[in-house]
Amino acid sequence: MRWAEAGETVIVGSRDAKRAQDAADKIKVRAGANAKISGAENIAACNAADLLVLTIPFEGHAALLKQLKPAIRPGTIVIDATVPLAASVGGRASRTLGVWQGSAAQQTAELVPKGISVVAAFQNLGAELLNADGPVDCDVIVCSDDPAAIPIVRALATKIPGARAIDGGKLENARILEQITALLIGLNIRHKGHSGIRITGLPPAAHEVV
Ligand SMILES: NC(=O)c1ccc[n+]([C@@H]2O[C@H](COP(=O)([O-])OP(=O)(O)OC[C@H]3O[C@@H](n4cnc5c(N)ncnc54)[C@H](OP(=O)(O)O)[C@@H]3O)[C@@H](O)[C@H]2O)c1
Repeated sequence: MRWAEAGETVIVGSRDAKRAQDAADKIKVRAGANAKISGAENIAACNAADLLVLTIPFEGHAALLKQLKPAIRPGTIVIDATVPLAASVGGRASRTLGVWQGSAAQQTAELVPKGISVVAAFQNLGAELLNADGPVDCDVIVCSDDPAAIPIVRALATKIPGARAIDGGKLENARILEQITALLIGLNIRHKGHSGIRITGLPPAAHEVV
């Protein structure tokens, strides 16, 4: 919704094309009739996009990526916001699961075709904040082993009003971003809020997008 409002062309993916279209229509009501948003079944959406954002529960993560692999076009950037919450296996949403590769994003890097850039981002930006009106009070830390992909994703993140995007270094740091989300969920439960993160003490250049 935030990217459609910012004028980006967005395709909502789903396992069901009708569900995707319904979601896109719902977003259009909020983003305006000129919003460039449509819906498609996941493989069709993947075929049509040069930048993918994975926002699915961890229990479906590996299976969906295996299914999408042949449809991911060369040069695509895959942004992974997935958090391996223990809730995926019936545990608590305030705990995470161990992932052999180190994080869900690193698992993604193993499952996409060779040469595809994987970027970890948006794990700490809650749906409640995004779904509300007005600027979000949250920073987005962007991690990738492809330095060329980081500024592209930072620029995309800053299209969300209020979000500051910070280069967080290598993809291996995704394991920290994913753990922070479990903490934020625990804080939301404990204090009945919609928490986010802000990083302080960095020079303005760290969150300016040129
Ligand atoms: N919610 C948040 O505030 C938030 C914030 C940061 C990160 N995240 C992370 O982002 C991911 C999505 O979170 P969410 O709250 O949006 O989850 P969700 O509402 O449970 O799932 C999002 C969509 O994923 C699809 N899906 C569900 N199970 C699937 C499966 N087994 N295989 C393939 N697709 C499946 C569903 O779409 P279709 O049924 O239409 O295919 C569903 O609408 C999670 O990994 C979460 O940890 C969430």
